[in-house]
Amino acid sequence: MFNDAFKLCPVFLLTINLIFSSIFEACHKIIDYNPFVVACEFDVCHMHIDDIGCTSIQTYADACAQAGICIDWRSGTKGLCDFKCPSHKVYKACGPLVEHTCDSWYNQKFIYAVNEFSEMLNVKLEGCYCPDDTFLLSSNSNECVPTCEICRLANGKWTKANTTWIEDCKECICEEDTLQVTCHHVFCPTLPPLSCDEEGQIKVPVTDTDSCCPIEECRCDSNHCSSDVPSCPVGYTLQSTQGVCCHNYSCVPKTNVCVFNNHEYQVGDQVPMKSCETCICGNQTDARSQWHIIECQPIPCETHCPLGYEYQILANKCCGKCVQINCTVKLYNNSTHTIKPGTIWTPPGNPCVKYECVKIANQFITVEAKTTCPPYKPNECIPGTETVTPDGCCHICILKGRPCSVSTTAVQLESQGCHSKGPVNVTSCSGACGTFTMYSTKMRSLQHSCSCCQELATTERQIQLFCPDNTEITYTYTHIDACGCLKSECSVVGRSEMVTTPSPKKSHRRRR
Ligand SMILES: *[C@@H]1O[C@H](CO)[C@@H](O)[C@H](O)[C@H]1NC(C)=O
Ligand SMILES: *[C@@H]1O[C@H](CO)[C@@H](O)[C@H](O)[C@H]1NC(C)=O
Ligand SMILES: *[C@@H]1O[C@H](CO)[C@@H](O)[C@H](O)[C@H]1NC(C)=O
Ligand SMILES: *[C@@H]1O[C@H](CO)[C@@H](O)[C@H](O)[C@H]1NC(C)=O
Ligand SMILES: *[C@@H]1O[C@H](CO)[C@@H](O)[C@H](O)[C@H]1NC(C)=O
Ligand SMILES: *[C@@H]1O[C@H](CO)[C@@H](O)[C@H](O)[C@H]1NC(C)=O
Ligand SMILES: *[C@@H]1O[C@H](CO)[C@@H](O)[C@H](O)[C@H]1NC(C)=O
Repeated sequence: MFNDAFKLCPVFLLTINLIFSSIFEACHKIIDYNPFVVACEFDVCHMHIDDIGCTSIQTYADACAQAGICIDWRSGTKGLCDFKCPSHKVYKACGPLVEHTCDSWYNQKFIYAVNEFSEMLNVKLEGCYCPDDTFLLSSNSNECVPTCEICRLANGKWTKANTTWIEDCKECICEEDTLQVTCHHVFCPTLPPLSCDEEGQIKVPVTDTDSCCPIEECRCDSNHCSSDVPSCPVGYTLQSTQGVCCHNYSCVPKTNVCVFNNHEYQVGDQVPMKSCETCICGNQTDARSQWHIIECQPIPCETHCPLGYEYQILANKCCGKCVQINCTVKLYNNSTHTIKPGTIWTPPGNPCVKYECVKIANQFITVEAKTTCPPYKPNECIPGTETVTPDGCCHICILKGRPCSVSTTAVQLESQGCHSKGPVNVTSCSGACGTFTMYSTKMRSLQHSCSCCQELATTERQIQLFCPDNTEITYTYTHIDACGCLKSECSVVGRSEMVTTPSPKKSHRRRR
């Protein structure tokens, strides 16, 4: 019978399957579905409105409901036949024919009373109902309320029992017992005095809009703000904060500078704080002042002085300086020795050298003096007479076996840079003279007799000396012809040194 329709319109298949299905099984025995299927086939397949199938099923479901069989069939249509409800209501497939409301008279009359309608109360219907735990406000209202203990207000709204509010200068309450609104005039309380003591505030009398009671209010009046902006001292910055009514200006310490002597310095800047210290604005902050801390370090001074110099502090100067106080001598082994001015120093192990420190004006001059010793032949000495000069430089002795006589030494004569051509025999008296002690009866004492080896006869001799500038000079020297022992005071055991008394008579003669 419906074969053509199945092929022609698939929606019909869905519709028809639902009516045939077990969902409607309870109704099949009571209501014949065939007329509905025919109507449905017509609607779906000839009107070509897809969801009209829902109407057909609904019609069958309604008929079932009328017969007391409520069927939740929409959930089986996969959303195709969903029932749309307003957001505050929920869909119920099998809801009551008469919904409970907060109107107890209505409930009484249509739900609880036994009358000709009571039979119908068994009928369950689909529709939009108030969610569970809520109640329909009234039969002619669409509103769902959480409780029926409410007062209905003139504007159609409602309020819960026990609520109070102020309206038109009256205080109203939703009475719990009567669920009626009762209002009475507001009692205006005496409020504690208002102190409007923030800067810029003034007190103004106003009327409270709800209670109509006279009250006071603090308002801002910029005319009451002090207009002067303070000027901040060095190291402080102006901070403006919005007070209750006025800008509040205050000077707060700058947290990124150092302050010294009424000047600001950035971190890393040099601060002229102490003359002999380097002071830098550091990056540490002083907790109390909130400024950065100035860190100082003494200027480093070179206090190490070279040998012979002494570090002396100078008045009004950060660093002293090295002042020379001693002469210095550099020895052959590269060690340096210092000598106090006015003193003579002989290096240990070298007694023939003397260094004298002379201070002339501010100059320290080291004068070096070398002693030349006479020739010393120990095997020609009278044993036991060997001795060292008091300065320790020269070995000397009394030569043995050689009586006082002329001795000759060949030397190169030199005067004023001019030299003799070859060695010249110069003479000296040397040798032993008798020294004795004898008893004198006449003097009644021991008499010492001393004699010295001295020259007895001399002659003057002349020699030519040759100068580097190719000139010659005539040089006169004394030649000893004979020596002898001459009486002298006995003081020291000694001898006459080489006697040459050069008396240069320079006569320049150019040589050819
Ligand atoms: C109303 O207030 C009374 C007393 O405070 C209380 O007993 C009652 O439960 C309240 N009723 C409601 C609906 O809140
Ligand atoms: C202004 O600010 C300072 C510091 O923040 C505060 O001590 C003072 O009380 C304030 N004055 C006013 C009138 O707000
Ligand atoms: C302070 O300065 C030093 C050197 O300039 C730097 O290493 C250090 O991190 C700085 N400390 C702070 C707290 O800025
Ligand atoms: C100077 O010489 C004296 C004596 O030799 C010595 O005591 C002193 O330390 C020297 N001072 C310096 C600075 O060389
Ligand atoms: C002294 O110093 C010089 C140059 O530094 C060096 O040539 C010489 O060998 C040194 N002499 C001694 C004795 O150390
Ligand atoms: C160098 O010579 C002096 C004197 O002879 C001696 O006092 C000193 O110790 C010597 N110094 C060195 C480094 O040999
Ligand atoms: C110097 O004396 C030696 C002998 O003592 C003698 O042979 C020599 O001729 C003399 N020379 C002169 C220039 O008199």
